[in-house]
Amino acid sequence: MTSRISLKAAAKINLYLEITGNRADGYHDLVMILQSIDLCDRVDIRKIGTDEIQVACTNPEVPCDRTNLAYKAAALLQSSFPDIGGMEILIDKQIPMGAGLAGGSANAAAVLVGIDRLWDLGLTQSQLCELAAQLGSDIPFCVIGGTALATGRGEILSPLPDLTDLVLVICKHRQIAISTPWAYQTFRSQGLLVTSQARNQNLSSQMVAAIALNDESTPVKVGRLLYNDLERAVLPAYPQLVSLKNDLLNQECLGAMMSGSGSTIFAIAADFDRAQKIAEAVKTDDIDVWVVKSLARSIFDA
Ligand code: C5P
Repeated sequence: MTSRISLKAAAKINLYLEITGNRADGYHDLVMILQSIDLCDRVDIRKIGTDEIQVACTNPEVPCDRTNLAYKAAALLQSSFPDIGGMEILIDKQIPMGAGLAGGSANAAAVLVGIDRLWDLGLTQSQLCELAAQLGSDIPFCVIGGTALATGRGEILSPLPDLTDLVLVICKHRQIAISTPWAYQTFRSQGLLVTSQARNQNLSSQMVAAIALNDESTPVKVGRLLYNDLERAVLPAYPQLVSLKNDLLNQECLGAMMSGSGSTIFAIAADFDRAQKIAEAVKTDDIDVWVVKSLARSIFDA
């Protein structure tokens, strides 16, 4: 009987994030286009002899108690399937925190998928997504991965054709970690919903059409259509991110944008060589940079 599993859990970026409404439950209605990228944590799950859930992480800044989303995912499955025993979850952290890359959500998705496989629970993808949605708005996407249109609070997914050949430069200021609730609250309290440039121009449909076309013009069109409403709430508070974005835009890229609630700023590059040059140009002691490709999946064997 298998007693352990090792999975990769991919980060995501938002190619598109439009806030379309304030919801009574405090959340926001969204239209997003999400993309998995090849920047992955490794999640090892090992069965142990007790009922305990133990979480450990290579990054000492990650809390390993009950507040960790990976812990919450394991506890949720234990409450639905009381026969599941305890486990040790080891997270090898590569995805930066407070980055808008869904690192914690990816870990939770890997735990759901890993426990399903380790204990042979036979859960369908839609059952896994239902459980994922109870844990966080972007965790269903982290279960499915690839390229997808997300609506509702982000949990209603429609797969799009895979954008497999996108080359991206991912930049994260070491000292800037942004809280997602803060970004949405700032957007709401500043009344930023009233102006929707994106809706007027039908930008989400244009990006879906560019992705559906799936030819050599797609990266250029996607680069031009990058959109994120949360930039209007976050960037005014972080001039360093504005200058990082400007530096990227000055580097012959196809487009640059903040991912999710930040603080990651990413650029789309025409090819790998260009991406390396952009990375070298913007990297400093304060800015971590990764050159990555888009991925057609999110949770896979390590
Ligand atoms: O769903 P999740 O717990 O990941 O969301 C984190 C926070 O992000 C929420 O507490 C809320 O402040 C904000 N959020 C939102 N609207 C969404 C998704 C998230 O306001 N659709």
